[in-house]
Amino acid sequence: MKILAFGASNSQNSINKALVTYATTLISGDVEILDLNDFEMPIFSQDREQANGIPNEAKQFYAKIGAADALLISFAEHNGNFTAAYKNLFDWTSRIDHKVYQGKPAVILATSPGSGGASSVLGIANRSAPYIGLDVKASLSVASFYNKFDLATGRVTDSEVQQALEHTVNALK
Ligand SMILES: Cc1cc2nc3c(=O)[nH]c(=O)nc-3n(C[C@H](O)[C@H](O)[C@H](O)COP(=O)(O)O)c2cc1C
Repeated sequence: MKILAFGASNSQNSINKALVTYATTLISGDVEILDLNDFEMPIFSQDREQANGIPNEAKQFYAKIGAADALLISFAEHNGNFTAAYKNLFDWTSRIDHKVYQGKPAVILATSPGSGGASSVLGIANRSAPYIGLDVKASLSVASFYNKFDLATGRVTDSEVQQALEHTVNALK
Protein backbone atom coordinates (compact mmCIF):
# COMPACT_ATOMS: atom_id res chain seq x y z
CA MET A 1 0.00 0.00 0.00
CA LYS A 2 1.35 3.42 -0.98
CA ILE A 3 0.57 5.90 1.78
CA LEU A 4 0.82 9.64 1.24
CA ALA A 5 0.96 11.71 4.43
CA PHE A 6 1.26 15.36 5.33
CA GLY A 7 0.61 17.89 8.04
CA ALA A 8 -1.62 20.64 6.67
CA SER A 9 0.73 23.36 7.89
CA ASN A 10 3.81 25.17 6.61
CA SER A 11 5.43 25.45 10.03
CA GLN A 12 9.00 24.12 10.13
CA ASN A 13 8.17 22.72 13.57
CA SER A 14 4.67 21.56 12.74
CA ILE A 15 3.15 19.43 15.49
CA ASN A 16 0.68 18.09 12.92
CA LYS A 17 3.54 16.92 10.75
CA ALA A 18 5.09 15.26 13.82
CA LEU A 19 1.79 13.55 14.65
CA VAL A 20 1.11 12.34 11.14
CA THR A 21 4.71 11.13 10.78
CA TYR A 22 4.29 9.06 13.92
CA ALA A 23 0.90 7.79 12.69
CA THR A 24 2.56 6.43 9.54
CA THR A 25 4.71 4.15 11.72
CA LEU A 26 1.55 2.41 12.95
CA ILE A 27 0.66 1.07 9.53
CA SER A 28 2.75 -0.97 7.15
CA GLY A 29 3.23 0.34 3.67
CA ASP A 30 5.37 2.44 1.42
CA VAL A 31 5.16 5.90 3.03
CA GLU A 32 5.82 9.32 1.52
CA ILE A 33 5.57 12.36 3.77
CA LEU A 34 5.10 15.71 2.08
CA ASP A 35 6.18 19.11 3.37
CA LEU A 36 3.73 21.82 2.32
CA ASN A 37 6.67 24.23 1.97
CA ASP A 38 7.58 22.31 -1.18
CA PHE A 39 4.19 23.29 -2.62
CA GLU A 40 4.21 27.01 -1.93
CA MET A 41 2.56 29.08 -4.64
CA PRO A 42 1.33 32.65 -5.02
CA ILE A 43 -2.01 33.23 -3.31
CA PHE A 44 -4.68 31.80 -5.58
CA SER A 45 -6.52 34.26 -7.75
CA GLN A 46 -8.59 33.74 -10.85
CA ASP A 47 -6.62 36.54 -12.49
CA ARG A 48 -3.31 34.73 -11.85
CA GLU A 49 -4.79 31.50 -13.12
CA GLN A 50 -5.99 33.21 -16.30
CA ALA A 51 -2.65 34.92 -16.83
CA ASN A 52 -0.26 32.07 -16.00
CA GLY A 53 -2.27 28.86 -15.65
CA ILE A 54 -2.01 26.40 -12.79
CA PRO A 55 1.45 26.18 -11.15
CA ASN A 56 3.43 22.95 -11.36
CA GLU A 57 3.33 22.54 -7.58
CA ALA A 58 -0.44 22.02 -7.70
CA LYS A 59 -0.07 19.55 -10.57
CA GLN A 60 2.59 17.63 -8.61
CA PHE A 61 0.41 17.54 -5.49
CA TYR A 62 -2.54 16.25 -7.52
CA ALA A 63 -0.35 13.58 -9.16
CA LYS A 64 1.01 12.42 -5.79
CA ILE A 65 -2.53 11.97 -4.49
CA GLY A 66 -3.43 10.09 -7.66
CA ALA A 67 -0.49 7.71 -7.20
CA ALA A 68 -1.34 6.95 -3.55
CA ASP A 69 -3.50 4.11 -2.26
CA ALA A 70 -4.32 5.86 1.01
CA LEU A 71 -3.90 9.24 2.66
CA LEU A 72 -2.98 10.29 6.19
CA ILE A 73 -3.48 14.00 6.85
CA SER A 74 -3.21 16.00 10.07
CA PHE A 75 -4.83 19.43 9.98
CA ALA A 76 -3.41 22.39 11.85
CA GLU A 77 -6.01 24.89 13.03
CA HIS A 78 -5.63 28.63 12.52
CA ASN A 79 -8.54 30.67 13.84
CA GLY A 80 -10.83 27.67 13.75
CA ASN A 81 -10.04 26.90 10.14
CA PHE A 82 -7.46 25.52 7.72
CA THR A 83 -4.06 27.18 7.59
CA ALA A 84 -3.61 29.62 4.72
CA ALA A 85 -0.79 27.43 3.36
CA TYR A 86 -3.05 24.39 3.09
CA LYS A 87 -6.05 26.34 1.76
CA ASN A 88 -3.94 27.93 -0.95
CA LEU A 89 -2.58 24.56 -2.08
CA PHE A 90 -6.08 23.11 -1.97
CA ASP A 91 -7.61 25.98 -3.96
CA TRP A 92 -5.00 25.77 -6.72
CA THR A 93 -5.34 21.98 -6.90
CA SER A 94 -9.12 22.22 -7.05
CA ARG A 95 -8.72 24.03 -10.39
CA ILE A 96 -7.40 20.76 -11.84
CA ASP A 97 -10.23 18.69 -10.35
CA HIS A 98 -12.65 19.79 -7.65
CA LYS A 99 -12.42 16.21 -6.32
CA VAL A 100 -8.86 16.98 -5.22
CA TYR A 101 -8.54 13.73 -3.25
CA GLN A 102 -9.79 11.56 -6.11
CA GLY A 103 -11.86 9.23 -3.90
CA LYS A 104 -8.84 7.99 -1.94
CA PRO A 105 -9.39 6.38 1.47
CA ALA A 106 -8.08 8.59 4.23
CA VAL A 107 -7.53 8.92 7.93
CA ILE A 108 -7.63 12.51 9.07
CA LEU A 109 -6.16 13.83 12.29
CA ALA A 110 -5.82 17.23 13.92
CA THR A 111 -3.89 18.45 16.91
CA SER A 112 -3.20 21.65 18.78
CA PRO A 113 -1.54 22.62 22.05
CA GLY A 114 -4.90 23.62 23.51
CA SER A 115 -7.81 21.64 24.90
CA GLY A 116 -9.80 22.02 21.68
CA GLY A 117 -7.38 19.76 19.80
CA ALA A 118 -8.07 21.56 16.52
CA SER A 119 -11.47 19.86 16.46
CA SER A 120 -13.00 22.83 14.64
CA VAL A 121 -10.84 22.38 11.55
CA LEU A 122 -11.27 18.61 11.77
CA GLY A 123 -15.04 19.14 11.67
CA ILE A 124 -14.67 21.35 8.60
CA ALA A 125 -12.50 18.71 6.92
CA ASN A 126 -14.97 15.93 7.76
CA ARG A 127 -17.98 17.90 6.52
CA SER A 128 -16.33 18.91 3.26
CA ALA A 129 -14.90 15.44 2.55
CA PRO A 130 -17.75 14.10 0.37
CA TYR A 131 -17.51 17.11 -1.92
CA ILE A 132 -13.75 16.93 -2.45
CA GLY A 133 -13.33 13.21 -3.08
CA LEU A 134 -11.91 12.45 0.36
CA ASP A 135 -13.14 9.06 1.57
CA VAL A 136 -12.65 9.51 5.31
CA LYS A 137 -12.44 6.13 7.05
CA ALA A 138 -11.76 7.56 10.51
CA SER A 139 -10.72 10.79 12.19
CA LEU A 140 -9.16 11.79 15.50
CA SER A 141 -8.46 15.05 17.29
CA VAL A 142 -5.57 15.06 19.76
CA ALA A 143 -5.88 17.81 22.38
CA SER A 144 -3.07 19.21 24.54
CA PHE A 145 -0.41 17.96 22.14
CA TYR A 146 2.61 18.76 24.28
CA ASN A 147 1.22 16.68 27.17
CA LYS A 148 0.63 13.69 24.92
CA PHE A 149 3.62 13.64 22.58
CA ASP A 150 7.38 13.82 22.98
CA LEU A 151 8.84 15.79 20.09
CA ALA A 152 12.38 14.65 20.93
CA THR A 153 11.51 10.99 20.28
CA GLY A 154 8.67 11.73 17.85
CA ARG A 155 6.33 9.44 19.77
CA VAL A 156 3.00 9.57 21.57
CA THR A 157 3.54 9.32 25.33
CA ASP A 158 -0.07 8.96 26.47
CA SER A 159 -1.50 5.43 26.42
CA GLU A 160 -5.07 6.52 25.70
CA VAL A 161 -3.97 8.62 22.73
CA GLN A 162 -1.77 5.75 21.56
CA GLN A 163 -4.74 3.35 21.63
CA ALA A 164 -7.04 5.82 19.92
CA LEU A 165 -4.45 6.55 17.24
CA GLU A 166 -3.83 2.85 16.56
CA HIS A 167 -7.57 2.27 16.29
CA THR A 168 -7.98 5.25 13.96
CA VAL A 169 -5.07 4.36 11.68
CA ASN A 170 -6.26 0.73 11.50
CA ALA A 171 -9.29 1.99 9.60
CA LEU A 172 -7.03 2.21 6.55
CA LYS A 173 -6.26 -1.53 6.59
C1 LIG B 1 -2.63 32.47 13.46
C2 LIG B 1 -2.85 31.35 14.42
C3 LIG B 1 -4.13 30.98 14.75
C4 LIG B 1 -4.37 29.91 15.62
N1 LIG B 1 -5.64 29.54 15.88
C5 LIG B 1 -5.87 28.42 16.60
C6 LIG B 1 -7.19 27.92 16.77
O1 LIG B 1 -8.16 28.45 16.27
N2 LIG B 1 -7.36 26.80 17.49
C7 LIG B 1 -6.31 26.12 18.06
O2 LIG B 1 -6.52 25.08 18.69
N3 LIG B 1 -5.04 26.57 17.92
C8 LIG B 1 -4.79 27.69 17.21
N4 LIG B 1 -3.52 28.15 17.04
C9 LIG B 1 -2.41 27.43 17.66
C10 LIG B 1 -2.00 26.26 16.78
O3 LIG B 1 -2.82 25.13 17.10
C11 LIG B 1 -0.54 25.92 17.00
O4 LIG B 1 0.27 27.01 16.52
C12 LIG B 1 -0.12 24.64 16.33
O5 LIG B 1 1.25 24.42 16.58
C13 LIG B 1 -0.40 24.69 14.83
O6 LIG B 1 -0.12 23.44 14.24
P1 LIG B 1 1.25 23.20 13.44
O7 LIG B 1 2.37 23.23 14.48
O8 LIG B 1 1.08 21.84 12.87
O9 LIG B 1 1.39 24.29 12.44
C14 LIG B 1 -3.27 29.23 16.18
C15 LIG B 1 -1.97 29.61 15.86
C16 LIG B 1 -1.75 30.66 14.99
C17 LIG B 1 -0.34 31.03 14.64
